Amino acid sequence: MQSVQVGALRLPAIAVGCMYLDRIGEAERREFIAAALGEGMNFFDHADIYGGGECESAFGEAFAKLNIPRDSIVLQSKCGIVPGKMFDFSEKHIVESVEGSLKRLRTDYLDGLLLHRPDALMQPEEVAAAFDKLERQGKVRYFGVSNMHPYQIELLKSCVRQPLVADQLQFSPAHAGMISCGTEANMLTEGGISRDGYILDYCRLHGIAVQAWSPFRYGFFEGVFLGDPKFQKLNDVLEKIGKKYSVDKAAAVAAWILRHPAKTQVITGTTKVGHLLDIAKGADVAITREEWYEIYLSAGHILP
Ligand SMILES: NC(=O)c1ccc[n+]([C@@H]2O[C@H](COP(=O)([O-])OP(=O)(O)OC[C@H]3O[C@@H](n4cnc5c(N)ncnc54)[C@H](OP(=O)(O)O)[C@@H]3O)[C@@H](O)[C@H]2O)c1
Repeated sequence: MQSVQVGALRLPAIAVGCMYLDRIGEAERREFIAAALGEGMNFFDHADIYGGGECESAFGEAFAKLNIPRDSIVLQSKCGIVPGKMFDFSEKHIVESVEGSLKRLRTDYLDGLLLHRPDALMQPEEVAAAFDKLERQGKVRYFGVSNMHPYQIELLKSCVRQPLVADQLQFSPAHAGMISCGTEANMLTEGGISRDGYILDYCRLHGIAVQAWSPFRYGFFEGVFLGDPKFQKLNDVLEKIGKKYSVDKAAAVAAWILRHPAKTQVITGTTKVGHLLDIAKGADVAITREEWYEIYLSAGHILP
């Protein structure tokens, strides 16, 4: 498995997102985690809110039964969303959220903690106090953010001492505003509008790893583009390029994300062993520049 540098760690290019782990049975969950580990995918992405906490609990229970050393896996979680109510980056919320995650995951430390979505009332001093406390207590080893644009990261950096090593962002061929705002710079086109403050270039300049969430979806959880007739051209091109490298369409998507020179990690959401193993094959495929652009254009983007 190809790896990606995230702060001081080298992590598998294909990460296992755990947002739907509560939707499968216990035995299936153990099989899923074991299969991921068997392929070198030992990085698991969580959040305190996934399944209302059930996903972390389900993982913790399954992992305990597998009897595998804790230090052979990397656990990342997120905090800062109070579903349906507010975002909360207060010191109290961050610290209590991590303590809840630790309990549910049955571990005494998180490898990584991300701030899930920007809190409008964010006070960087409070975040810094929470991070210092969690680091001092050995409860979190690295820190990062999610869904943030450059100035939000800069604001945090004005107080936070620890490096912010990752920004988890939605990214797929069908959700590629991070690319189009660059290729369509200074154009009056829809794609030329930056909705993220040019975060991709910022992350590259500052050595921040991009973690691509929802690699197979479009819109805001509107659906999966794989096999969707609305994305016929994209599916046809993914199929053709996948065939060339003897992989399926999902692996071709992973190869497309990983082909970008930013330090991107693919955060998958499948809970099916077969799908996960198919996607993993994409990490070993190096598509050409021409193929990368062909996939991009087939998703409906333009080149001015
Ligand atoms: N930071 C954030 O704000 C944020 C937001 C959302 C998600 N996330 C993270 O990102 C992870 C992934 O999110 P996601 O679940 O939306 O991403 P995703 O992997 O793009 O979507 C998962 C969907 O893709 C389907 N799929 C995967 N492989 C397939 C294949 N070969 N053929 C057909 N369908 C296939 C899955 O179906 P099957 O289950 O049937 O395979 C599932 O319905 C989450 O688990 C979470 O860790 C982070």
